[in-house]
Amino acid sequence: MPANEFFFAERMRNLSGSAIRDIFKYMGRPGLISFAGGNPAAFALPEDQVADLSYRLLREMGKQLLQYGPTEGYLPLREALPAYIEKTFGAKADADGILITTGSMQGLDLLLRALVNPGDAVLTESPAFLGALQAMTAAEARIIPVRSDDTGIDTDHLEEMMRLHSPKLLYLIPTFQNPTGRTLSLERRKKVAELAARYGVVVAEDDPYHELRYEGSHLPSVMSYDEQGRVVLLGSFSKVISPGLRVGFMAGDASLIRKCAILKQCTDVHTPNLNQAIIHQYLTGALLDEHIRAILPPYAAMMRLMLRELENIPEIKGFTRPEGGLFIFARLADGLEAVPLFKRAVDRGLAFVPGEYFYAEGGHKNTLRLNFSGTDPDGIARGMEILRGCLKDSH
Ligand SMILES: Cc1ncc(COP(=O)(O)O)c(C=O)c1O
Repeated sequence: MPANEFFFAERMRNLSGSAIRDIFKYMGRPGLISFAGGNPAAFALPEDQVADLSYRLLREMGKQLLQYGPTEGYLPLREALPAYIEKTFGAKADADGILITTGSMQGLDLLLRALVNPGDAVLTESPAFLGALQAMTAAEARIIPVRSDDTGIDTDHLEEMMRLHSPKLLYLIPTFQNPTGRTLSLERRKKVAELAARYGVVVAEDDPYHELRYEGSHLPSVMSYDEQGRVVLLGSFSKVISPGLRVGFMAGDASLIRKCAILKQCTDVHTPNLNQAIIHQYLTGALLDEHIRAILPPYAAMMRLMLRELENIPEIKGFTRPEGGLFIFARLADGLEAVPLFKRAVDRGLAFVPGEYFYAEGGHKNTLRLNFSGTDPDGIARGMEILRGCLKDSH
């Protein structure tokens, strides 16, 4: 057998060679303006605060934090989360039904592994977060896209798909969705909870952008309408504090969460103690609220700037108008395609993500996802000028 030849598992078949990799290979180019990522802005990362907290925590309880910890999570954080979940998501949770995860991405992976056999149906709103689609592919799920519109997942289509496919799981991002920025309406939140109970489907409610609201008022989570323990809330501190700390949580039915904890034990044993203790500090004092209050106005200004710029590009025929989050989704005039546009834009110093990659069913070649937190206002203006120029030259 030649060197470097491996017989990979079946599940790797659809994971390698994705076209999106081609996109990310351009990302390191010096000077590139990126509308492509989903990273928090540099100004939103509280490095001084985290440095001070780390120093204090290690001085006060270094021996404990540097030791192994419980798989379920650092107890003070688990105990602080029910109050945070109630205040932020309007839902009830107790510490027994909470598992601290290494980012919310891990929560989805654990849930998929706990519930889904190869070939089992998993429903997802379409378009959907690429990382979630990858996790479903890795779990060898049969991905069934469900239509969505300006107020989120289409609950009539959802019911039809539940009836037809008897899925194990529904994945959705109810607030400032990735990639569209759209928010699921209140009526539909209630309806999703009702359908999940009626058809016995577990809902993975992934809500990392919830607190990044720039206008309108907060909506209660799908979980808050769940009376049968069918909804698992996937929470994350990546978008409001730091993605590098890798702290998230899953909250739901205690017996389901326990199974996920068993899987986590053989995955990474536990999420780093120091990082959990830092997040705990944010939750117990006023730090998180203060930090969020400080980052919302500049994010809002960046989103509005990008929206204004989009109005001045004739080849863009429509775009979402989010009330928060980090993304805007745009549609090009018929006949124009985002992948060739991306190639032209990268040569001129701008990256974004063609929207087709977010559709498990393919198509939608004239769509693109634009992120406004990966650069500064000047970068947004220059990037939009590049986009305008590339589209003008496409005639
Ligand atoms: C919808 C959604 N879920 C989860 C994540 C990942 O979150 P975490 O860093 O907590 O794993 C992202 C990041 O882009 C996201 O957009």
